[in-house]
Amino acid sequence: MKQAERLDQLIRLLANGEFHSGQAIGESLSISRAAVNQHIHKLEELGLELFSVTGRGYKLARPIELLQAAAIEEETPTKWRKKPGFEVRSVVDSSNDQVKLLAQDGTVDAGFSIFAEAQTAGRGRRGKHWFSPFGSNLYFSVYWPLEDGIHGAMGLSLAVGIALAECFTELGIEAVSVKWPNDVYINGKKVAGILVDLETLPEGAAHSIIGMGINLRMPEFVGRNIDQAWTDLNSELPQLVSRNCIAAQVRSSVLSALQQYEQYGLAAFQQSWRQYDCFLDKPVKLIMGQRVCLGTCRGIDENGALLVEDEHGVRRYFGGEVSLRAQDAIN
Ligand code: BTN
Repeated sequence: MKQAERLDQLIRLLANGEFHSGQAIGESLSISRAAVNQHIHKLEELGLELFSVTGRGYKLARPIELLQAAAIEEETPTKWRKKPGFEVRSVVDSSNDQVKLLAQDGTVDAGFSIFAEAQTAGRGRRGKHWFSPFGSNLYFSVYWPLEDGIHGAMGLSLAVGIALAECFTELGIEAVSVKWPNDVYINGKKVAGILVDLETLPEGAAHSIIGMGINLRMPEFVGRNIDQAWTDLNSELPQLVSRNCIAAQVRSSVLSALQQYEQYGLAAFQQSWRQYDCFLDKPVKLIMGQRVCLGTCRGIDENGALLVEDEHGVRRYFGGEVSLRAQDAIN
């Protein structure tokens, strides 16, 4: 058995949150006590919080609900049940990179997606690291071909942001908002981020891989390393949310949004964007490298560019290195 398989087996054993003695673990995985220690250490590196008590053994700080394709499928509305396909993976580098490999092979349909339990090289926008501890949050990537090429990509990520915001609202969370271009907030704290990777193809078409990181139950010891205000769905809801249930809801909302975007473009999302936009008609500061622009946010244009009004009129700003800050609030 390979090390990765043993780790999976160990996680399944510990997932119930109860104590398991080193001896019982060793027997069940057919490994020595020393190897049990090494495996436990590896789990800690993956962001799992463990207790070890002499005489009792090891236990997770809290039980985890592992993602299961069958459970996600069961919670999925009929329309998205069979196709497009999706996979649940355990530990990956980045779910975007895994989807990209399959897209390059040409073996997957539009909407094919991967959920990962943990990422060792999770990527955020502008080269930032995306903290991806095991079994706590959702790391989800979808393949979507762009027949007309990359110019539709900005609108695409805004449409997906709206899909996530609507999904969180349906869970009963108030004060959900979107921050241009790719973030979802609850009460001014980031709960989800979107990263779109693009690959141009001959004849003007492109592949897009839309990756979403959604905080469900971020372990406190991991959250301490995040350099901005954040929250997770569990802190915003009165009861624990099922990871498989949320995974199914997010997947079907995103697929519906992508289909709608393909049919009607960003026009289908303009009204929702105005409803969720956390900066609409507020004073904003735009930072583009060394350049800073001050003005009032006037929403987005038909392509998804940000509209900012200053003394010279309304200007459009596109993605890339642009970052947006309210002068007094979210960063
Ligand atoms: C951001 O807000 O900076 C975007 C974060 C995107 C993170 C997700 S997690 C799933 C997918 N795989 C990655 O490596 N990144 C995205």
